[in-house]
Amino acid sequence: MKIAILPGDGIGTEIVAEAVKVLQALGLGFEMETALVGGAAYEAHGHPLPEATLKLAMQADAVLFGAVGDWKYDTLDRPLRPEQAILGLRKNMGLFANFRPAICYEQLVDASSLKPELVAGLDILIVRELTGDIYFGQPRGRRVATDGHFPGSEEAFDTMRYSLPEIERIAHVAFQAAMKRSKRVTSVDKANVLETFQLWKDVVTEVGQQYPEVALDHMYVDNAAMQLVKAPKKFDVLVTGNMFGDILSDAAAMLTGSIGMLPSASLNSKGQGLYEPSHGSAPDIAGKGIANPLATILSAAMMLRFSLNQAAAAQRIEAAVKSVLQQGLRTADIYSAGTTKVSTKQMGDAVLQALR
Ligand code: IPM
Ligand code: MG
Repeated sequence: MKIAILPGDGIGTEIVAEAVKVLQALGLGFEMETALVGGAAYEAHGHPLPEATLKLAMQADAVLFGAVGDWKYDTLDRPLRPEQAILGLRKNMGLFANFRPAICYEQLVDASSLKPELVAGLDILIVRELTGDIYFGQPRGRRVATDGHFPGSEEAFDTMRYSLPEIERIAHVAFQAAMKRSKRVTSVDKANVLETFQLWKDVVTEVGQQYPEVALDHMYVDNAAMQLVKAPKKFDVLVTGNMFGDILSDAAAMLTGSIGMLPSASLNSKGQGLYEPSHGSAPDIAGKGIANPLATILSAAMMLRFSLNQAAAAQRIEAAVKSVLQQGLRTADIYSAGTTKVSTKQMGDAVLQALR
């Protein structure tokens, strides 16, 4: 089984190195091949998603991805910015279904910014549509710089768009996920204002009729944001579009104590997947060895379960993560008084130790 390893930029290289160590320690004989992506690829090859990197990802059984981006690329033409690499991978591989589970580990209840009783036992799943919406709308208009200056009188626009089949397929994914959980789906939209999301609501309702055992409700995105911090445990599966899912999953991350804990899986209709932490490249802490590698290590566990048919190995990793948390080991983002602060590498080593 072949895994494409795409560490990317910023803390991406540090956290992916720890996840690779963990995968190797399983002794399952994975073939792993690393390639540049994002700003690192732009520096070396003049493009954030070089042909060879895309080819490696498409031919692999699964992709383990770190993070991309740095403020220093903010002035590049949009097609050359690091973020286009992850968007290009998602689009080219057809990775329309993004799973972002937010689980609050018992040991991290105090690391959340919310009161312990609101998050203790939290286990929700955000299903985010990943290849449509305003992220990939056409046409797209942009401000044009003259002589490096923005004239200010220009306008810019992006188009929000969803088609019926795009909504149908992600709705099925959400209902099927709910069937394996508490059988509740909340569809998040903005149907009160946007046509795109009236269609979304109508189609999700229709698909829901095929899953009579699943209770479906609808919520406007602003209310969903509020409910997520008011009573997050009322949710089971949340399904939403690309943009709302991006925002709500960052909010949900903080319920678990830190965005450094949140893994994700992005799947296409063939079961091929890309696995990445939900957080970004964090250039402000890159190179300091303090990033939390657990989101990436947990993403590797999702990869074993969803793409590589190795559920037992996935469970071993998840148990090892719980065990290091139980031992009181914490990277800076989840540190609290009375626990032991560790570096990125020490955290990876501790997971290895616990695996054995
Ligand atoms: C995410 C990220 C990406 C997104 C960026 C890096 C393009 O924020 O995966 O949530 O907006 O989808
Ligand atoms: Mg995001």
